Amino acid sequence: MFFSKDRSNERYYDNIFPIIDACKKDSDPNKINGTVGSLYGEDEIIITYKTVFNCFRNLNNETMASYASGSFGNVEFNKAISKFALENKINNYRLIPSPGGTGALYLGFNISLSKGDTILIPETAWENYSNMAHEKGLIPIYYDIYNLDELFKKLESLEKIFLVTNSPCQNPCGHSYKYDEWKRIIDYLNNCDKEAIILNDVAYIEYEFDEDKKKYFELFNNLNDNVLVLIAYSCSKSFSYYGFRLGALFVVGKNNDILDLYINQCTKKARTTYSNVNNGAMYSIIDLVNNHLDEYHKEKEEYLKLLKERVELFLKEADENNLVYFPYDSGFFVTLKFENNEIRDDIFNLFKAEHLYFIKVYRGIRIGLCSIPVRKIKGLAKRLKDIMSTYNK
Ligand SMILES: Cc1ncc(COP(=O)(O)O)c(C=O)c1O
Repeated sequence: MFFSKDRSNERYYDNIFPIIDACKKDSDPNKINGTVGSLYGEDEIIITYKTVFNCFRNLNNETMASYASGSFGNVEFNKAISKFALENKINNYRLIPSPGGTGALYLGFNISLSKGDTILIPETAWENYSNMAHEKGLIPIYYDIYNLDELFKKLESLEKIFLVTNSPCQNPCGHSYKYDEWKRIIDYLNNCDKEAIILNDVAYIEYEFDEDKKKYFELFNNLNDNVLVLIAYSCSKSFSYYGFRLGALFVVGKNNDILDLYINQCTKKARTTYSNVNNGAMYSIIDLVNNHLDEYHKEKEEYLKLLKERVELFLKEADENNLVYFPYDSGFFVTLKFENNEIRDDIFNLFKAEHLYFIKVYRGIRIGLCSIPVRKIKGLAKRLKDIMSTYNK
C-alpha cells in the first residue's frame, strides 16, 4: 500500500533533532548546548572561515546558477579537493564529488553492498551508519574500536568484509587509530584471502591534533588486489560549510580498471538520485585551494587552538572528578561512558533537567565540546559529577 516492499512500517525517529529543539526552546542563559556537531565560537555562534566565504562571494552569479559539469564533478574541483584532502599521500585513486560526507557514504554503501550483506560498524558510533545499513537491508555487526584483536576475530567468519572506520577524530569518542594500528588493519586485510573493503569516514580529519595526521594514507599505496579503500570526505567540517552539501568519495586500490568502473557506477548512482552537487560550492573550494590555502590554514590554526583549549580544560576537570569517558585522542566530542543504556537514559534526563543538553549514543553521552565556550566548560565536569552522584544514591 503506497510503499515499496522494501520499506518497513516502522516510523523513523532521529534521536538528535528533538534534543536540539528542546535546547533551542530553553531560555536559560546559562544552559549548555553540547548537542551541536559543528565548531562554534566563544560567542556560541557557528564559526565561519573568512577565506572560504570570501572565495564564495567572489563567484559570479552565472557560476552559482549553473549545473555542475556532470555527476562526476569538474576536473578542477577534483584536482583541488584531492590536493587538499590527500596531501599527495596516495598514488593510485579516483574520486567523485558528493553531497557532503553523507553522500560519499551513500555511494560506497550502494555500489559495494546488497541487501542481506553484513557490514561492520563501530559499536559507539554516529547513529547514521546504522540508519544507512537499515535503509539498505544490511546486517550490521558492531565492533569495539579499541580492540583490534576482537575486530579481526569478527572478520574471520565473514565471506566478504565491508568495514566502516571513522578515524581519526571518531564521532562520538574522539578516537584516532595510530599509524601502527592502521598498519595492522591493512596487513590483516591484505592477507585475509577474501574481498575486503574499508570505508574510512574522515569527516573530522582536519581537526586531528596530530600534525602527521594523514601519514597513514601512505599505507593505502600498498594494497593487495583483494582490498579496496573508500575514503568518505566531508567539506562540511573542513570548511565549516555544512549547508553547501559538498564532499567527495575517493576510491583507492591497485587495479585501475576496477577504480574506473567503481567511479563509473558511482556516476550512474549519482545521476539517478541527486544528479550532481553544488556548483558554486565546488568553485569556491577551487579558488581557496589554488589561491588562498595559507590564509585558510592560519585561520584553522586558531580554531584548532580553541578546540584544544576546551578539550584540555574539560579532560583535566573530568579526571579530577573521576568521570568515566571513552579514551579520547582528537576531535569535536568527548563521550561519557555508561554500563548500559538504561543508566545512560536516566543520567541524560537528569542533565537535561539541569539545562545541560547533550546527545545520547550507545552506552554513552556525547558532549560537543566543539560548541561550548571555555567559560561554560569551566566547572562543567564537577557539575556533571554532582548530578551523577545524586543518581547513585
Ligand atoms: C561521523 C560523521 N560522518 C559523516 C558525517 C557527514 O557529514 P556531512 O554529510 O554533513 O558532510 C557526519 C556529520 O555529522 C559525521 O558525524
